[in-house]
Amino acid sequence: MRAGAPAPTAQKTDLRLGRIVRLLMDNATVVVSGTKIADEIGTTRSEVWRLVQQLRTLGVEISGHPATGYGLTCVPDLLLPDMLAPLTKGTIFGQHIHHYYKIGSTNSAAMEAASTGAPQGSVFLTEQQTAGRGRSANQWHSAQSLGIYCSVVLRPQLPPSEALILSLGAGLAVQAAVQSIDDRVDVDLKWPNDLLIDGRKFCGILTEMNAEATRVRYIVVGIGINVNQVTFPAELQETAISLRLATGTEWSRVELCAALLKSLDKE
Ligand code: BTN
Repeated sequence: MRAGAPAPTAQKTDLRLGRIVRLLMDNATVVVSGTKIADEIGTTRSEVWRLVQQLRTLGVEISGHPATGYGLTCVPDLLLPDMLAPLTKGTIFGQHIHHYYKIGSTNSAAMEAASTGAPQGSVFLTEQQTAGRGRSANQWHSAQSLGIYCSVVLRPQLPPSEALILSLGAGLAVQAAVQSIDDRVDVDLKWPNDLLIDGRKFCGILTEMNAEATRVRYIVVGIGINVNQVTFPAELQETAISLRLATGTEWSRVELCAALLKSLDKE
């Protein structure tokens, strides 16, 4: 990229990808023809083939081709709106879920969207961040489809001085979400809002705000969770841990992300 040129706008994930995955999940025991998928999502068979190829590059295991029809080989663990919306129904986070395959930072995307009117409860998720941001100008290591990289837009009626409470609430929500899935995981909350297991960090929270002197306009709470990493870059090896490393089993990011959004809603 030319120095000084604006970063290219990240492409939001095509919503039809989620609809294809949903359709294949809802018909898990049969092979679904390209024609049926094309009819359901209002496109052509050749476009379905192109979308299936795109899903495969995202790591979704789909068997078949246009002549035979398609089937899922295993349930995909992608944070697609069509996967999360049914699980978060009834919360403030179920209606405006935005998903990206790759983006600089979900916090930056959420702050920008909030500045142009994104409603409270908008959720920004990505499979991978190329410029994930942590506190104190640190980077957040955001390897593809191994963690949860999530930012939510809130519009609380609070003075700026009380906004910290939302960060603390987010930490409690992560703790509750993890323990709702495995109550044997011993999660420590470290001030202001790091989450640790065995003294190593598995989650960080970055809260950013736009406010007037007496009232908050909007707040973005960004949450990064190390879920299924089995290794970290050398500089993090002593201090970082993932839920998978802590428990010895692979976690469903979809299940954890839904639990997180439900806990955040309660908090
Ligand atoms: C920290 O502990 O330093 C905070 C890390 C916050 C990382 C998350 S990942 C999702 C969101 N987008 C970002 O760029 N940062 C936050």
